[in-house]
Amino acid sequence: MNIREQRNESVVAAIADIRDIEKTQGVNAQALDAIKGVLLKLAARRELFPEDHFPVGDEDGNSVVYRLSEDDDHRFALYASTALPGKGVPPHNHTTWAVIVGVHGDERNIFYERAKNSSEEGIGEVQKTGETTVSFGNGVTMMPDDIHSIHVTGDEKTVHLHMYGLALEQLHERVMYNTQAGTYKVFPATQNIKAA
Ligand SMILES: [Fe+2]
Repeated sequence: MNIREQRNESVVAAIADIRDIEKTQGVNAQALDAIKGVLLKLAARRELFPEDHFPVGDEDGNSVVYRLSEDDDHRFALYASTALPGKGVPPHNHTTWAVIVGVHGDERNIFYERAKNSSEEGIGEVQKTGETTVSFGNGVTMMPDDIHSIHVTGDEKTVHLHMYGLALEQLHERVMYNTQAGTYKVFPATQNIKAA
């Protein structure tokens, strides 16, 4: 078997375990920890995720999301996400559960909670509550309403595994915060996902 075939086989087995965890335990912090355990075991086989299988955009150097798995009903979506140092994503939620584990490089995750809730639509601030840098060997979990931002630190391109309860193309009510302006808005579902 070549690397792609081996990767696919390992991904299929991991997703089966993850489906089973959600089915038996539901969606809660403990279940997401168990899911993280499965993904850490998958990511530990680093040789299955060589950096050259997951290039960033060749013209613009932009971040790319590669689909590794997704059920027919769009549930249990696993991606390899790659980005260059200096890239990042402002604070946002996911509206589904999410787990990130590291394979290559360092991705700093900052977590927030809503602060000073305003009744005015589009006005809202977030306050930092903590942070974790995701690298090879660790990961983070998020419930659907949890808010984080990501920042590629260090000098290495990241390739990390991002797992969501529902595929990114299906998430139409996600909210992103502009921390400078103290505003937020719903942003369109990600559509430009590539095949791995
Ligand atoms: Fe995110």
